[in-house]
Amino acid sequence: MSASQSIDLLIHGSAEVVTPLGQAALTGAGLGDVSVVPDGAVAVDDGRVLEVGRSADLQNKYAAHTTLDAQGGTVLPGLVDAHTHPVFMGTREAEFELRAAGKTYVEISAAGGGIASSLEGVRTSSEEALLGSLMERARRFLSLGTTTVEAKTGYGLTLEDELKGLRVIQRASAEQPVDFVATCLAAHAYPPEYADRREDFHTLIVEEIWPAVADQGIARYADVFTEEQAFDLDSSRRIMAGARDVGLELRMHVDQLTPLGGAQLAAELGARSADHLEHVSPEGIEALAGAGVVATLSPLVPLFLRESTEAPGRALVAGGVPVALSTDFNPGSCYCMSMFEVLTWASLRYGFSAGEALTAGTLNAAASLDLAHEIGSLEVGKRADVLITDLPNHSHLTYELGRNPVTAVVKGGQLVWRAQDPGA
Ligand code: NIG
Ligand code: FE
Repeated sequence: MSASQSIDLLIHGSAEVVTPLGQAALTGAGLGDVSVVPDGAVAVDDGRVLEVGRSADLQNKYAAHTTLDAQGGTVLPGLVDAHTHPVFMGTREAEFELRAAGKTYVEISAAGGGIASSLEGVRTSSEEALLGSLMERARRFLSLGTTTVEAKTGYGLTLEDELKGLRVIQRASAEQPVDFVATCLAAHAYPPEYADRREDFHTLIVEEIWPAVADQGIARYADVFTEEQAFDLDSSRRIMAGARDVGLELRMHVDQLTPLGGAQLAAELGARSADHLEHVSPEGIEALAGAGVVATLSPLVPLFLRESTEAPGRALVAGGVPVALSTDFNPGSCYCMSMFEVLTWASLRYGFSAGEALTAGTLNAAASLDLAHEIGSLEVGKRADVLITDLPNHSHLTYELGRNPVTAVVKGGQLVWRAQDPGA
């Protein structure tokens, strides 16, 4: 009998190991093609996946320093949240109540609420205080099985406050297990002091904020809220072209509240991700597919805003656009950090199968961040970001609403979170 190979970690005893496969986004009919290994196990060494196979086989083959028994639950790749705004102070529950009473997001913003009402909290908070709150949110993301999070600024809207927000993201990423990928959303809204001189705000962003962000290497992405009530197409084009000129890559909030044609602009500019897309047109879908832009959808947002128009998830998939999922966690339009909730709503709203939702919330979300070679699936050589859940099979991923099924989280091969009371 051959000696067994020693490894760092073996996760075994699952009902299923379920994962998309590949180093790029899955599209079209392939979106839901996930691999299902019954009674599966994951062998991990040096922080990376060494092998995925049957528990009995891998238990024979390897002598693991640490073993984790999945106890008949489903094992998944760590979830990837491709769009969040987690650097804020203070919440906006009064707006939620106003919407419940019939006011719209746009009406509330026009009356001084919305994004502008979150500026003071960030501007008057110290970097340490913001870091403390992001560290707490990171713990919550982790407990919900999200191991990588795209994190935008956008509630500072001055050079100093945007840089402060980016430092907070960078420090939080270094100081706890969740990986934050930073995006500077300096073009989120016109701050009150620029209300009557919008061109000057564009100039501040293009001539000062983007160059400082790029010089400091403190964010990979730049973002804009392209919308009738925010930055129009021409302003967005100028702002995003400026970001591209200094080497930042582009993500864009487009066609969320009105069909402005932001998707076509994202395609024209070669953005990596076009987000929201509730009002995208057939021409917009074609443009995104042609340019290979990832559509990052947030199915909780229309629900939370009581807006009736959904992103056309199925049409985007049918049109060949790579589709990713996200919470859009923020104090205004989605106060929810759970990607499991998002997977369920992607199924309810877009008609995604459990496999399609999983791919969109893992591999394709990773692709939207240009990280699909590294995370987003359980495959040989990828970083070992692994969830153990108590779900009896992967259909429960979308079937179960409102419960956290995660019992353990492994990040880079290390056990970093364990449920106190599994199944609660
Ligand atoms: O993604 N659309 C713009 N930005 C956020 C909302 C932010 C807020 O209301 O504070 C979003 O939905
Ligand atoms: Fe957003």
